[in-house]
Amino acid sequence: MTKHQIVIDKSKCVGCKMCVNDCVAHNIVLKNNKANIIANDCVMCGHCVAICPKEAVVMTGYEENPISRERVVSLNPDDVLNVIRHRRTIRQFQNKKVPAEILNQILEAGRLTHTAKNMQDVSFIVLDKKKHAVEKQAVKIFGILQKAGGVVSPMIKRNKIGEHFFFFKAPVVIVVAAKSVMNGSLAAQNMEFVAEANGLGTLFSGYFTLAARLSRNIRKQLGVPKGKKVIMTLVMGYPNVKYQRSVQREKLKVDYR
Ligand SMILES: Cc1cc2nc3c(=O)[nH]c(=O)nc-3n(C[C@H](O)[C@H](O)[C@H](O)COP(=O)(O)O)c2cc1C
Ligand code: SF4
Ligand code: SF4
Repeated sequence: MTKHQIVIDKSKCVGCKMCVNDCVAHNIVLKNNKANIIANDCVMCGHCVAICPKEAVVMTGYEENPISRERVVSLNPDDVLNVIRHRRTIRQFQNKKVPAEILNQILEAGRLTHTAKNMQDVSFIVLDKKKHAVEKQAVKIFGILQKAGGVVSPMIKRNKIGEHFFFFKAPVVIVVAAKSVMNGSLAAQNMEFVAEANGLGTLFSGYFTLAARLSRNIRKQLGVPKGKKVIMTLVMGYPNVKYQRSVQREKLKVDYR
């Protein structure tokens, strides 16, 4: 039996067909004015659960229940664009702890992010006791790479790889692991937005991600789940810098054909 099943409570169903019309898998039919699931091997997207006006559709096997949309959240598009325009990579952090509720909210943003085929394959590793040890190992690896030369970019060669080269003394480091690079990256981006909304700044550490990909030892210390790879490392904390203006970007590359 599959882990999750779609169950329709026929006594609640009024045959409105909303679920039938919205099902991407054409997996719901109306019989005698009641919705029926054809098979339980669909993508389990949950659109049928979300759309039903009578709460007649249930997806089994989850620890949480669906949450009703009580108010329509409307974001001001200019504000959203300005957040994107003005966010900057943060590498200077205040020596200030991030409250657990904020950390949990950031993790929740990752958990709730959509995944291709509804894989839900993204895991999060919050570095705590191992933080210093794994950073030390990454520094060692990058030292070797730097000496070997050619393997990494000239910018890395110029770089001074000190003991805080990867995490910049940030209070929070979250490693995102997933089967799909795309899924992990989407989760990481949403997590950054929620961090930003909480007044935190983020660095996407491609360098630490690379070190973790290169080192089995680091992956072991991180406990990367089997079958998943390290997709991104989010380094977060309260910024110790304030930027006064946006920075120019190249002009829009877009074709309409
Ligand atoms: C996928 C990704 C990986 C990155 N890795 C690193 C990194 O390892 N170390 C670092 O200092 N900055 C890293 N950055 C930051 C970029 O250098 C930065 O985004 C870019 O210079 C633009 O600056 P901004 O983010 O402040 O707009 C990374 C950014 C992205 C998107
Ligand atoms: S949306 Fe709900 S009420 Fe409408 S047909 Fe589907 S199960 Fe029945
Ligand atoms: S979970 Fe999605 S794919 Fe499956 S029956 Fe419901 S709407 Fe269709």
